Amino acid sequence: MSDIVADIKSRLSIEDVVAQYVQLKQAGKNFKGLCPFHQEKTPSFMVSPEKQLAYCFGCHKGGDMIAFVEEVEGVEFKDAIEILADKCGLDMKDYQLSDAKHSKTEKGEIYDIHSHAADFYEEKLWNTEKGKKVLNYLRNRGLKDETIKKYKFGLAPDSFENTHMDLVKKGYSRKMISLGGIAVSKDTDSQKIYDRFRNRLIIPIYDSIGRIVGFGGRAMKKGDEPKYLNSPDSPIYHKSEVVYGYNFAKDSIKKTGKVILVEGYFDVIMSHQEGIMNTVATSGTALTKEQIKLFKRLTKDLIFCFDTDKAGIEAAKRGFELAQEDKMNVHVIIGLDTKDPADYILDHPGEWAGIVEKPVPFMDFCIKEIIKNHDPSTIEGKKIILSQLLPFLNLLSSTFEKDQYVREIASKLGTNEVVIYDEIKKNKKTTIKHVKKQEKSEEIQNKKPSVIEMIFGLILEHSEDLESYLEKIDENLLINQEKSIYNTFKDHYNLLRAESTRKDFLSCFDDEIANRFEVISLFVEDLYGTFSKDMLEKELELLINKEKRSRIEREQRVLSMKMREAEKKGDKELAKDLLQQFNKLVSP
Ligand code: UTP
Ligand code: MN
Repeated sequence: MSDIVADIKSRLSIEDVVAQYVQLKQAGKNFKGLCPFHQEKTPSFMVSPEKQLAYCFGCHKGGDMIAFVEEVEGVEFKDAIEILADKCGLDMKDYQLSDAKHSKTEKGEIYDIHSHAADFYEEKLWNTEKGKKVLNYLRNRGLKDETIKKYKFGLAPDSFENTHMDLVKKGYSRKMISLGGIAVSKDTDSQKIYDRFRNRLIIPIYDSIGRIVGFGGRAMKKGDEPKYLNSPDSPIYHKSEVVYGYNFAKDSIKKTGKVILVEGYFDVIMSHQEGIMNTVATSGTALTKEQIKLFKRLTKDLIFCFDTDKAGIEAAKRGFELAQEDKMNVHVIIGLDTKDPADYILDHPGEWAGIVEKPVPFMDFCIKEIIKNHDPSTIEGKKIILSQLLPFLNLLSSTFEKDQYVREIASKLGTNEVVIYDEIKKNKKTTIKHVKKQEKSEEIQNKKPSVIEMIFGLILEHSEDLESYLEKIDENLLINQEKSIYNTFKDHYNLLRAESTRKDFLSCFDDEIANRFEVISLFVEDLYGTFSKDMLEKELELLINKEKRSRIEREQRVLSMKMREAEKKGDKELAKDLLQQFNKLVSP
């Protein structure tokens, strides 16, 4: 992968890539524009040609051109690479992708097969007798012809060979046709194959950048099982990562800041047809971490619209659990009187947009559902209700929110809050550590610089003027990593004197810290770009004093806590000692 990344970066400049999404204005040696990742009226999105970075000071998102494309297109790393490779005319086929089990050419062929198969199915829908009946079925379900075309519906003929023979005639191998899942193989070398989809309505499944990667086939005859037959996982289709409708929905998800999750293909398409474009589905599988990650790029607000049958509620619960791990807000759409969105939209023209506007918070929905199914007036009922609600209370990441719901539940069950908190304690599960770890490094990259980081950043950016200031930082105030950063600064200071060796200086740090410094530099440029040497010196002095004060205050707080403890224990000697330390801090 690294080769192609380097080649892309040498062919494209970040300002050109960003300019395709954001209107940029020159601001000194950088460019500025309105951030594409959040709503704003004054530009806080900065692009640095020199550092090849794009970063928003408002929402702290951004990075190099690949990170930018991932974010703005709502796609994963490898898709961002494909988009960029395409822009600069690089052919992915020329690169051996080290991490892929399947070669690029193999995947390329399977994409092509899908695209041709979709054309084949579509032709059968529009131009055959059988197709006319299926078209009628679609129109009766409320789909307009333009919608049927946009989503590229098709019809698989009632035959074991028509589809794959058409592909074979076009020059594709049986092996690839069955590897892609369009046919099923009867022998190990895939020479005898038969069509997977027969006599079924075909709904193409797209990946996040709009390539067809699989099909859903709906039975057209009563008793034909299963109702939906889907493509299996293949080199280009990973069910756990693909979200149906995402390619059509992502702009709207970004714009509205919300994503609506429904259960079925038809629900997505009917919702889109009604103008509610931020609708997607997980097509028959439970929501996965990878899918949540995809949403998280664009929004923090998930709206579930699942069946109120048992399976639907279970799916909603699992989804809520995953969403909490990522600190996302979850709402639930109600008021469809047991219908799914597709049927509701068909029966109630013009009402869907209004329904979508009024989702309820997931916990409210959950409490209501659980209480509805058990009797809150009996001890037995109360016990069950509480035991079913506890896992959800435990998942809530906000203590304020938790407290609100504890009160509500206590009052509904006629008990008091202490009892419920006791139960929560007993029930506490060890959850989701792995997720937190992964989140951390993201946070490190994106959060606003701390005062000490700004100090380092100023010294880094203005090394010619500010050398002496490094001496002013009181080493004793530094903790952990800061100390080693400080020492690296001192040890390799001469590298900073020349712009040409700046990179060498940064390479003295771990990648993560070096990248972080690039972001901090942008902040420094933005805030202090126009400062004179005098002003810079004053600012740095101010920051150093500010940091000193806050660290002294923090230490004082720790000491006074220890003093109180010592006094409680009656350890006069220790208390005296601590007091001395405390006083020294005030006037050293
Ligand atoms: P539903 O059974 O609710 O079907 O499955 P639906 O979407 O309402 O179907 P229509 O409206 O009658 O055409 C919801 C989703 O679950 C997946 C499909 O993605 C479907 O859209 N599913 C369902 C399967 O993958 N296989 C099945 O056999 C059934
Ligand atoms: Mn349906």
